[in-house]
Amino acid sequence: MARLIIEGGRRLNGAVHIHGAKNSALPILAATLLAHGVCEIENCPALSDVRAATEILRHLGCEIRKDGACVAVDATAPCRSDIPDALMREMRSSIVFLGAIAARTGEAELSFPGGCELGPRPIDLHLSALRQMGLRIDEEGGKLCCRVNGRLAGCPITLSFPSVGATENILLAAVTATGTTTIYNAAREPEIVDLCEFLTACGARIRGAGESTIVVDGVERLNGCRHRVIPDRIETVTYMGAAAVTGGSLLLRGVCPRHLQAVMPLFEEMGCSLASWDDELLVSAPGRLRRVKTVRTLPYPGFPTDAQALLMAMACIAEGTSVFIETIFESRYKHVGELMRLGARIKVEGRVAVVEGVPQLSGAPVQCTDLRGGAALVLAGLAAQGRTELGELYHLERGYEAMAEGLTQTGASLILEE
Ligand code: UD1
Repeated sequence: MARLIIEGGRRLNGAVHIHGAKNSALPILAATLLAHGVCEIENCPALSDVRAATEILRHLGCEIRKDGACVAVDATAPCRSDIPDALMREMRSSIVFLGAIAARTGEAELSFPGGCELGPRPIDLHLSALRQMGLRIDEEGGKLCCRVNGRLAGCPITLSFPSVGATENILLAAVTATGTTTIYNAAREPEIVDLCEFLTACGARIRGAGESTIVVDGVERLNGCRHRVIPDRIETVTYMGAAAVTGGSLLLRGVCPRHLQAVMPLFEEMGCSLASWDDELLVSAPGRLRRVKTVRTLPYPGFPTDAQALLMAMACIAEGTSVFIETIFESRYKHVGELMRLGARIKVEGRVAVVEGVPQLSGAPVQCTDLRGGAALVLAGLAAQGRTELGELYHLERGYEAMAEGLTQTGASLILEE
């Protein structure tokens, strides 16, 4: 089993380039299925989730070419409409293919995504919206068997929660549906805006991306285009955290500071100084971090749930007590037990975690519990005195390209033991 050996206590200094956003690349790759022609997706991160998405496209009959960080998808002739169970299991978010497959082929057969490391991952909002658009969905034997007579039909859809995945699925179904689809209480995440920009470049007609109401006028068909994926805001926060916990200073290149407006004030509250330019962000940490009063996760533009574990790693060594309130996912504190192995003092009750900062963590064997929880353990390992051995690394490979290299080149000691 591969392990990452971290010798902690080293101050990080230097520059790191941030990759394209995983959570943009995945729905955009699903959306390429709608285009009659070649889509070239630039700044695509090399991650296991992205590989799973291209595998699904290949299985569906698309031709894929890769040239560095550019992935070209030719969806001229998709020949299948099913996703095998193994690929669905590899990436829970493959449910975002449902809207695209149904819109392109008039039918779809997927296995039910089921739960994941963040707790139950319901898709009721996805299914109810697609049913409203005329998709007949039968749930049988752990499978979703879907069919539509002719094209899907645009309609008004109100989401009871601004689900990112459901908003994406509706968009993918709506762009080539008949008539107009209006999504009320849509997710406003930058990745939604990126998906809409991609779709618009392919010929879709969308208004209101980034706002709570999105209006889509269906068009007959989409064409290929060239699109550059936005920077990964959670990878950005991870490196900001790496500078913060090591008392270091990192220049992050290729970022979008505008997407970090709910995050930056909390870093400043903890004593970090931040300076940003167009696509660069300089993070400099104080001698010791101060506590952050409250971190409450919320849909965008609120504080992202994906950054909760990262801030918690910082709070573990801050002076004072910090409070976390996780409002998005039911079970997103799995990293807490592992952080405590490194000496953190944390109490969890339901959706609230109280972190009492300690002066020093100390290295220990720990395991990644999920993608962002794993990244939080890397941060804690960088901060800890001595040797941390991190296992279950496949979680990290889902969301971080060349993380060990990025941290090593700025002064961290990380060794991958196969
Ligand atoms: C996406 C991101 C994930 C991020 C999350 C919230 C991708 C690939 N993943 O996940 O990294 O943490 O947004 O910002 O982009 N819900 C329902 N019914 C549904 C759909 C969702 O009850 O049909 C609930 C979920 O259980 C969860 C909440 O809504 O509690 C948020 O989920 P959602 O916004 O859909 O997240 P994902 O799209 O799965």
